[in-house]
Amino acid sequence: MKVAIGCDHAGVELKEELLSLLKQMGIECEDFGTNSTQSVDYPDFGEKVSSAVSKGEVERGILICGTGIGMSIVANKFPNVRAALCNEPFSAKMSRLHNDANILVIGGRVTGKALAREITKLWLETSFEGGRHTRRIEKISQIEEKTKNL
Ligand code: RB5
Repeated sequence: MKVAIGCDHAGVELKEELLSLLKQMGIECEDFGTNSTQSVDYPDFGEKVSSAVSKGEVERGILICGTGIGMSIVANKFPNVRAALCNEPFSAKMSRLHNDANILVIGGRVTGKALAREITKLWLETSFEGGRHTRRIEKISQIEEKTKNL
């Protein structure tokens, strides 16, 4: 599995932590920055990761900003992206089982490093359950089509 990761200035420290987790897990990772605590605009980095996931260049993405809210809003604008803001493990697991989430979003100012590691590991290791949830995912894609010309 190849994962793209990105953050704004509020997520740099947590991104470093998660990069080390991904390395430990032997997961190939593309880091889209930012790489300093100098203030940047989260949509710029959210776009890079979401675009890579949307185009199928990577299987999954991880985004971090202060709350995780801005990055979630950006990511869910992209076709084929299902981004889930998860600041605790239960949501992370369910976002994979039921929603087939392909981008995990974490709030760097909300979730501590140890918990973020637990959330990310669980999210990466949980498979989509399929079944009735496949129909629901298909309906999300249909909504994407229907709202194109609004
Ligand atoms: C940056 O100050 C902050 O607004 C950003 O990291 C994020 O929380 C936005 O949703």
